[in-house]
Amino acid sequence: MKLNVHDHRRHARRRLPRFVFDYVDGGAEDEDCLRRNVDDLNAVRLLPTCLRDTSHADPGIAVFGQRWAMPAGVAPIGFSGLVRPQGDLLLARAAAAAGVPFVLSTASNARLEAVREAGLARNPAAIQWMQLYVMTDRSIAEQLVRRARHAGYGALVLTVDVAVSGLRERDVRNGFRLPFRFTPSTLLDLALHPAWSLDMARQGRSPAFVNLAEHEDAGASAQLQAALLARAMDRTLVWEQLDWLRRLWDGPLILKGLLHPDDARRAVRHGVDGILVSNHGGQQLDAAPSTISVLPRIVDAVKGALPVFVDSGFRRGSDVVKAVAAGATAAFVGRPAVWGMAAGGEAGTSAVLQTLCDETQRTMALIGADTVADIAPHHLTASLQPGDSHG
Ligand SMILES: Cc1cc2nc3c(=O)[nH]c(=O)nc-3n(C[C@H](O)[C@H](O)[C@H](O)COP(=O)(O)O)c2cc1C
Repeated sequence: MKLNVHDHRRHARRRLPRFVFDYVDGGAEDEDCLRRNVDDLNAVRLLPTCLRDTSHADPGIAVFGQRWAMPAGVAPIGFSGLVRPQGDLLLARAAAAAGVPFVLSTASNARLEAVREAGLARNPAAIQWMQLYVMTDRSIAEQLVRRARHAGYGALVLTVDVAVSGLRERDVRNGFRLPFRFTPSTLLDLALHPAWSLDMARQGRSPAFVNLAEHEDAGASAQLQAALLARAMDRTLVWEQLDWLRRLWDGPLILKGLLHPDDARRAVRHGVDGILVSNHGGQQLDAAPSTISVLPRIVDAVKGALPVFVDSGFRRGSDVVKAVAAGATAAFVGRPAVWGMAAGGEAGTSAVLQTLCDETQRTMALIGADTVADIAPHHLTASLQPGDSHG
């Protein structure tokens, strides 16, 4: 029985070869940040109010003129085709059907146009955003942005926390790198997980970063793919060059991976449309604080000038409500959506999102909030209220 996200994770662990499960599950170095995200969220307490009419229990919100079924969405996940063939399409369909946004990774294994179509087929009002990594060859980013605009993506999410890749020690130990090489231990791993191995064999080829494929000749493309997996980004990209993106993209521009309140203020000054407070799910700077602990200071810094989204460690609807109480517009989930997909394909991610929505709704009723606008800092115990220097 899968009652919650943890049940989906357990099922994913059984189905996936270890190197795949670890690619999704693991964090950087000692995985302190990974644990901190979850532990700090668990440590936040919600203070219920009583005798309020909660008969509507509406978890819906409106962002950039679109309605979301709940204040949550699916974060970008690179290389999800390794979890299941067409993993990006499965995630996109489930998010569209659930009425929540899906952010497609630059490092996706399905063409961005196909993902857009898959979402629209489930829901004509599908909310889909494009995540952007800017690599040394900026023409790649330029082409991706143009294609995303043409395909109708609703926002551009520039990830800013990957100057270099964090060291994910599990991947190193498992010998997981591109191009993938079979070793005796990976072959044993595959033999022990026949359902996954058969799925991949039926697909006939290993997942590739297809959105980059058309920009290079075959040899250069292989290099680019390895660079993307190693997250070899353009480290000369600075604030002033956001204008370059602005010229290419006239829709909402969101910065993903901000943790510092000064950067949040800077984002406002540079006319950014939203920020996503993130530590990349603990995959980058292991010494980084949990996102829930810095959220109040960031909310304070932007003073309502733009929506503040957050991710990293969100596992329950009550976590989503905690973020909203601390001033976030919505929270995103990465791994939970992937665990669902690993365990049950599109239906698995749908189940995860439905559980998240049910939990959000139930938590709202339990704290006396009828709408998301009713969720407020007074629902938090003192330490996390905006303006507090917690973290
Ligand atoms: C396997 C994996 C791949 C990811 N790929 C990307 C990516 O391509 N681009 C990006 O901006 N973030 C990426 N992230 C970070 C997520 O978008 C998100 O910030 C993080 O997963 C949130 O934490 P959570 O997994 O605890 O929910 C990835 C995370 C994981 C676990």
